[in-house]
Amino acid sequence: MSANLRFDIAAHIATIVLDRPDKLNAMTPDMAAALVDAIATCNTSDDVRVVIVTGAGERAFSAGSDISTLDTYATAWDFRNRQDYCDALRGCRKPVIAAINGYALGGGLETAMACDIRIASTSARFAAPEIKLGWIGGGGMAVGLAHSVGMSNAALMLYTGEMIEADRALAWGLVSEVTAPDALLPRVREIAGQIAARAPIAAETAKLNLRAAHQMPFDKAIEYERDLQAICFATADAAEGRAAFAQRRAPVFRRR
Ligand code: COA
Repeated sequence: MSANLRFDIAAHIATIVLDRPDKLNAMTPDMAAALVDAIATCNTSDDVRVVIVTGAGERAFSAGSDISTLDTYATAWDFRNRQDYCDALRGCRKPVIAAINGYALGGGLETAMACDIRIASTSARFAAPEIKLGWIGGGGMAVGLAHSVGMSNAALMLYTGEMIEADRALAWGLVSEVTAPDALLPRVREIAGQIAARAPIAAETAKLNLRAAHQMPFDKAIEYERDLQAICFATADAAEGRAAFAQRRAPVFRRR
């Protein structure tokens, strides 16, 4: 783990905090490696049912890659083959919620877009500022924006690098909800608690299903959805869900 990344698991909820507030939680290679490790733990731990990613302090979720570390790559090819924390986040098998508490810029916006659900505070600001530095994002920036805000809005952000505020991000569908700053973590924990109370295999399978909806041809995606449904149907948790409904009690899901 890195000194600048906090990770804990409680009540089936893993919380990852990018913890470098004096540098607006800009991501160092050390933090990226720690984030990749944290996601690996989430993937393999039966105890983790949902993951929250947020930033320490009141100013930033993350201002992106630490610009001062970018000169440490000997060649562009070394840079090309760096460990990518957004790939790790996208590959997380458990549902992931971004609690966006300020700047989400560059790699910070990519980090948020690599999460399944984005909830922002009114202080959140979003941008793809790489173009101001003479390059473009590479952690899923254009792909993520094209999928979430549409081509025209994506182009506006990518070509200008200018920030958009939380209300516009909400109107564009980049985030699902906007809260007051103090209400952000309570609201995100409430959503995480709801997900953690659901059948974990069904939640993980719904994530695969959703991803397939974007990536597979329509007919194949529906066939795959039906296969995933059958897999869920065969789990002990689905039997428990039906039994609990018949017995008018709350289900107890065990990820089995
Ligand atoms: N990498 C490294 N350090 C960063 C950083 C980044 N991406 N973003 C902010 N910081 C550091 C600043 O250098 C400053 O450090 P210092 O106090 O030692 O000088 C500290 O975080 C606070 O940032 P500062 O610029 O003083 O705050 P501000 O309110 O004046 O401006 C921003 C805030 C977000 C507009 C500005 O920091 C910024 O443009 N950051 C770069 C964002 C970016 O381009 N990200 C994509 C990287 S690929």
